Amino acid sequence: MSELAGKVAIVTGAAGGIGGAAVAHFLASGARVLAMDRAAAGLPAAAEGLLPFVGDVTDAEACVAAVARVTATWGALHVLFNTAGLSGRRYGDGPVHSCTEAGWDVVLNSNLKSVFLMCRAAIPALVSSGGGSIVNLSSVLGLVGGGDLFATHAYAASKAGIIGLTRAMASHYAPQRIRVNALCPGLVQTPMAARALADEATMEYVRRMQPLLGGPASPQQVAAAAAFLASDAAAAITGVVLPVDGGWSAQ
Ligand SMILES: NC(=O)c1ccc[n+]([C@@H]2O[C@H](COP(=O)([O-])OP(=O)(O)OC[C@H]3O[C@@H](n4cnc5c(N)ncnc54)[C@H](O)[C@@H]3O)[C@@H](O)[C@H]2O)c1
Repeated sequence: MSELAGKVAIVTGAAGGIGGAAVAHFLASGARVLAMDRAAAGLPAAAEGLLPFVGDVTDAEACVAAVARVTATWGALHVLFNTAGLSGRRYGDGPVHSCTEAGWDVVLNSNLKSVFLMCRAAIPALVSSGGGSIVNLSSVLGLVGGGDLFATHAYAASKAGIIGLTRAMASHYAPQRIRVNALCPGLVQTPMAARALADEATMEYVRRMQPLLGGPASPQQVAAAAAFLASDAAAAITGVVLPVDGGWSAQ
C-alpha cells in the first residue's frame, strides 16, 4: 500500500487499541510515524520510519517536544492523528447528577484540552510543510445520547467538544491547506472498551445499534478511515464528522 507514501505523521495514544492499529496501518501505507503515548510499555520499538515517543498530551511542553522531534528527524509534518484519550468512569465520570468535578476535569483535560494542545503545537509545522491533515478521534457519543448504558456525560461533552473544535479549525485553516476532520466510532474492540465488552446487556445493545457489524468495530476499521482522511485521496475533504459506527448514528 502507498496510500500515505512520503507522509510524516504523529499518532497519539499509540500504545492503545486504535492508536496502535493506526501506527501499523500508516507504516504499511508508506508513512513515517512518531508514535506518542504516556505509557512507555505499550509503545512499539524504534524501527525504520518509526519513532516511539513517551509523552503526555495534557502537557503542553511534551506536545511541543513531540513536534520538534519529528521535524528534527524528518524535516516535515503532514499528519496528526489524535487518538489519546480515556474513559473517566473510574475518575468519577457518570450521569451529570453524580459526575464529580474531579471526573469532569480529568476527562475534559485528557480528551479535549489534549487535542487543543497537540493541534496548537503541530499547526506551525503543518503550515511550514505546505499543509496537512489533522484527524481527531471523537465518538458516536459526541453525536447522540448514550442512554443508561453509556451514561458518562463528561466523556460525551469532551467528544462533542472535539467536533466543534474540528469544524472551527477546518474553516479557519483551510486557506493554509490544513484539513481537519473527526471520526466518530461506535464501540470498538480495544482495552478502553473492556467493561462494555464484558457486559452482556451492553453487548446486546451494541449488536442492535451496530447492525452492519453485529458487534464491535475493529481498531483496524477505525485506522483505515483515519488513513483515508490523512491521505491525498481526501484532498478536498475538511470539516467532516465521519461516523465509523456500524450504523449506530443512522438509527
Ligand atoms: N474503544 C472504543 O469503543 C472507542 C469508541 C469511540 C471513541 N474512542 C476513542 O478512541 C480513542 C482511542 O481509544 P482506544 O479505544 O484505542 O483506547 P485505549 O485505552 O486502548 O488507548 C488509549 C491510549 O491513549 C493513551 N493516553 C491516554 N491519555 C493520555 C495522555 N494524557 N497522554 C498520552 N497518552 C494518553 C493511553 O495510554 C492509551 O495507550 C480515545 O480517544 C477514545 O475516546 C474509543
